[in-house]
Amino acid sequence: MSVLRDAELATAFDHAARSYDALVAANPGYHAHLRRSARRLGLSGGGPAPRVLDLGCGTGASTAALAAVLPGADITAVDASAGMLRRAALRPWPTPVRFVQSPVERLAAAGVHGPFDAVFAAYLLRNTADPDAVLAQAHRLLAPGGRLAVHEYALSGRAAHRAVWNAVCGGFVLPVATLLGDGALYRHLRHSVVAFDTARQLARRVERAGFERVRVLPLPGWQTGITHTVVARRPFTADGGAGTAARRAGEEAGR
Ligand SMILES: C[S@@+](CC[C@H](N)C(=O)[O-])C[C@H]1O[C@@H](n2cnc3c(N)ncnc32)[C@H](O)[C@@H]1O
Repeated sequence: MSVLRDAELATAFDHAARSYDALVAANPGYHAHLRRSARRLGLSGGGPAPRVLDLGCGTGASTAALAAVLPGADITAVDASAGMLRRAALRPWPTPVRFVQSPVERLAAAGVHGPFDAVFAAYLLRNTADPDAVLAQAHRLLAPGGRLAVHEYALSGRAAHRAVWNAVCGGFVLPVATLLGDGALYRHLRHSVVAFDTARQLARRVERAGFERVRVLPLPGWQTGITHTVVARRPFTADGGAGTAARRAGEEAGR
């Protein structure tokens, strides 16, 4: 299996950055699904501007979803790939976004400290060598009561959904990506999804990292049974958490 990690993966994303936005635009529902997952953070109920961390922001598609759903949010967006971040910086942003080039495993060294009201990770976790460590760090960076949304290709575990995934990759994504010179990255995409957690396993992983109220929420269209949002909350501690934006927003807002 051709799964890429760390520097090798960042280099592959550097190269793919120029065609990334065109490829995801051909994926029906890509941006709408990101906005739906951003709403599922449950922070869109008013109150002070939330502090939001976008892990693995890429060319800024997930960051744009957060900015659209949470106008005025104070967003920090992190990615390891300089090429992807260059594209993100070229977008028009309604409010300034702090972009940081760093592996998500080394946020403190990059000056990203928190606390945040929400952490969003879209198509990131599956790419990391140690997803448990990334979730533990997200937990540490969140304020008590802060929200997590992991938006990910995490299959249902049913053979039919895996077959759709393999058909879409084999029939469209890989031929196009190979023509563009990005075959290795998109073979990684195909295999990393098959090798990664099912949606339920991902939810259990999030729970093991110390989160509560973990829920697996589906996404529609061809991605039914293929892409899910796992939402969760960092528990309030006995003496903390009063007044965070996450708490004020109410439990079910935006779902
Ligand atoms: C599939 S893209 C998703 C980009 C964006 N979140 C979106 O929704 O379109 C995954 C991104 O995660 C980044 N990434 C992967 N592993 C990373 C790591 N360990 N640290 C930081 N960024 C990483 C890649 O560089 C890439 O830009």
